[in-house]
Amino acid sequence: MSTPAVLGLDVGGSSVKSLLALADSSLSSPPEILSRARTITPLADPVDGLVEIAQSVPQQHPVSRVVVSIPGIVDETRGVVVRSANIPALDGCPLAERLGARLGVPVSVINDGHAAAVAEAAWGAGAGSDDSFVLALGTGIAGAHVVDGEVVPGAHGSAGELGHITIDPAGAVCSCGRHGCLETIIGAPALSAAWNTAGGSGGPETLLPAYADGDPRAVPVVQRAASALAEALLTLCALVDPGRIVIGGGIAREPHDLVLLAAQYARQRATFHHVPPIVPATLGEWAGANGAVRIGMQHERLATAAR
Ligand code: BGC
Repeated sequence: MSTPAVLGLDVGGSSVKSLLALADSSLSSPPEILSRARTITPLADPVDGLVEIAQSVPQQHPVSRVVVSIPGIVDETRGVVVRSANIPALDGCPLAERLGARLGVPVSVINDGHAAAVAEAAWGAGAGSDDSFVLALGTGIAGAHVVDGEVVPGAHGSAGELGHITIDPAGAVCSCGRHGCLETIIGAPALSAAWNTAGGSGGPETLLPAYADGDPRAVPVVQRAASALAEALLTLCALVDPGRIVIGGGIAREPHDLVLLAAQYARQRATFHHVPPIVPATLGEWAGANGAVRIGMQHERLATAAR
């Protein structure tokens, strides 16, 4: 019989990225990928849509396990999506159980930030550090503390939600229901809105080059965002004291000005805090799918050892 494979599905607000890799691939470097696909996210009927995506991967190797990464708060211990601003049809869904029943193999459901962080820590910018906190700055803000290659999950598997640290209690309403979270200031939609109000057009992809060119409309927008991020980084250092901070996602894009400015503010404002090296993520937009596959391979090894 051919060697089993694990399937990682990284579900985003607009697309699902799938990677299939041999379950027994080495964990020391990114696995050789048997198949890779990108599909539109089935927003209206995500369970059926994800079943269809999982069943459409090439069948040369039997899929023995599926790991799904979700953009939202996930109770990873139970495989339940607690709240996903991007895919509200999944709110409260016992996704691991429902997909597992349909696919006939074990399914794990994890937060997208946890997935990306596992990959960055093993194969990307966190490699070489046994203690890193990985942030992904996009539509939402994802975060995860990775120690010795494993995410520190918290009691319910939902630790690391740095996007929901309050920066301004009187600020805008967040997708989580509270006010003035970091995400309401530096999430891509909020940043784009601030940039457009200041007279720019487009989102981070035009704001950051405009800032780099010294555009006076872009400077205060980036400074405010960097200031908010610096406050969150200091809170992170106070609570977690990570050995390295890795930052990826669309608003951390090259030339990394926003992140560099935030790091500079954090160092200037630190008192007792140890602000560790702050480095850009290196795996790009497939980090989450790679992390999902890696977690699948780890679970397969544990299951084999337990048999
Ligand atoms: C959610 C996180 C998620 C992040 C990126 C945030 O709004 O709370 O759980 O990881 O967005 O998708």
